[in-house]
Amino acid sequence: MTIDFPNLTLVDHPLVQHKLTWLRAEETNTDSFRNLLREVSQMLVYEATRDLPTELQTIRTPICEMQSPIISGKKLCLVSILRAGNGLLDGALSVLPLARVAHLGLYRDPQTLQPVEYYFKAPSDIAERQIIVVDPMLATGNSAVAAIDRLKALGCGSIKLLCLLGAPEGVRNMLEHHPDVPIVMAALDSHLNDHGYIVPGLGDAGDRIFGTV
Ligand code: URA
Repeated sequence: MTIDFPNLTLVDHPLVQHKLTWLRAEETNTDSFRNLLREVSQMLVYEATRDLPTELQTIRTPICEMQSPIISGKKLCLVSILRAGNGLLDGALSVLPLARVAHLGLYRDPQTLQPVEYYFKAPSDIAERQIIVVDPMLATGNSAVAAIDRLKALGCGSIKLLCLLGAPEGVRNMLEHHPDVPIVMAALDSHLNDHGYIVPGLGDAGDRIFGTV
């Protein structure tokens, strides 16, 4: 939690910050960018799942019987906001191998500047699952707000948002529209520029993940 934004947790771990520096650097190539994003995503998921409930399971070690914790409660669903959200999926699924995945495609209407849905595919029991929405860049926050509107309309009640970087504008937008949704991210940057890019940021996350620069 930060002082300005009660909905925000910043993961200021040295490993995350080190890898984020190389994700930001202009000279980092596509291969390295994907690998770094995968590694950071694992660490962000670690933080985002910190409060998952556990229950005790009886097992036998080679030495004796014991009661040991396992994750219980709702099953998980990752919701990737296309296309950059897919860059966080690999890492997230490597630590949450049983999670289901939904994909949501949104584009910005050039007239209204509001997000419009062009694709949505989700498991039929999504409303019963604990949701982690993944999108590397929280810029204006309009896509995240629209995605969470959509999920709540389906009955989803337990939602977190996982991002790599954000701007205060996006976090504020989320706080206004979805104060119940905690946000986990690696860093909160300064502001958005006139083109809607996060400053200092890392450029267009989708282009850097997919090599479409
Ligand atoms: N989306 C990106 O990929 N980068 C930004 O800086 C803002 C939105």
